[in-house]
Amino acid sequence: MIRLGIIGTGGMANTHAESFSPMKGVRLAACCDIDPARARAFASRWNIPKWYIDYREMLDAVTLEAVSVVTVDAAHAPASLAAIARGLAVLCEKPLATSLADARKMRDAARARGIVTHVNFSYRNARCVQAAAALIRAGGIGRVLHVEASYLQSWLVQDTWGDWRTTDAFTWRLSRRHGSAGTLGDIGCHIYDLTDLLCGDISEIACRLSTFDKGVAGNRIGPYVLDANDGFVSIVTLAGGGIGTVHATRWASGQINSLKVRVYGDEGAVDVDLDRSAELYGLAKSKRSMRPASWKEVKAGITPNQYQRFIAAVRRGTSDESDFANGARVQACLEASFTSDRRRKPVKVKP
Ligand SMILES: NC(=O)c1ccc[n+]([C@@H]2O[C@H](COP(=O)([O-])OP(=O)(O)OC[C@H]3O[C@@H](n4cnc5c(N)ncnc54)[C@H](O)[C@@H]3O)[C@@H](O)[C@H]2O)c1
Repeated sequence: MIRLGIIGTGGMANTHAESFSPMKGVRLAACCDIDPARARAFASRWNIPKWYIDYREMLDAVTLEAVSVVTVDAAHAPASLAAIARGLAVLCEKPLATSLADARKMRDAARARGIVTHVNFSYRNARCVQAAAALIRAGGIGRVLHVEASYLQSWLVQDTWGDWRTTDAFTWRLSRRHGSAGTLGDIGCHIYDLTDLLCGDISEIACRLSTFDKGVAGNRIGPYVLDANDGFVSIVTLAGGGIGTVHATRWASGQINSLKVRVYGDEGAVDVDLDRSAELYGLAKSKRSMRPASWKEVKAGITPNQYQRFIAAVRRGTSDESDFANGARVQACLEASFTSDRRRKPVKVKP
């Protein structure tokens, strides 16, 4: 039996509870949130026997094998480190931390104690992503030369998910003081992760961040100063020698949550478009024949999701490739992006 504690019981924690609840041999044993009303309501909704307002108290009081850390970004590091110190496996939400120094500390602490870790880069759940990554790794499009990757959202201009001006879950994401690294940290981490998974490690980044006026008096809402970036454009160099662009924004009217990655090699191309499908990816094979390559759709086989992968890793006793080392690599991409924007120069990615 894997007894699991959930730390942070806001919106995303429901996806964790929904995913873990039906799994055989997994029990939601406790939950915790600094907001007692939220913790109590979450415990009642998911039939969790114990709830707490301090994760240290929960970790001391309840026998657990693993935790899910689903707090605001700023609490990922302290909560994960507290669980690692008690020998528990940790599934942490993305981005792994709010600084590269913290991400390294988390990776190194887990490595030193042989703890199973996982970062919830949830777009890895899409089976077309897994299949396309396997095909590219096996040389299916030859040498990767060029990539174009984008993640477009619109919640600053469309209320599809609610009004950001009156909802806490949006406002902390716009405020650096509340631990947000803006669009770069929130969704840039996903698109860097997908680029890295599909194309191999990113070794250098030249990035420009943008932060536009949101039309709010004094540029603040209550305690939230609206100072976090709301978009970025990066030129990336891949360790294998290819180049490409990676970009994201929250101002993309007409796009709700659009992720696209197109990878071009010297023997073909792959097109992952999660708006189109999580099952199908596009493949154009050229084999250097010089004949025009036509696109065909490839259906990917079923692959386990991130939650199933985490539980499998806990049972096995070893992490898979979506571990804290990978989280730290993505964090290094975020850090290189900030440094590059500040210096107006390309910066090496050093996890
Ligand atoms: N993987 C994905 O696709 C995905 C999607 C959405 C959110 N997320 C991530 O999940 C995390 C939570 O996001 P959300 O949308 O649920 O936000 P949210 O604001 O709805 O919930 C965050 C919760 O954390 C609680 N919290 C803050 N500090 C805490 C602490 N020290 N101890 C315990 N609880 C604490 C807050 O009270 C709140 O209830 C974020 O890191 C976000 O980046 C990931």
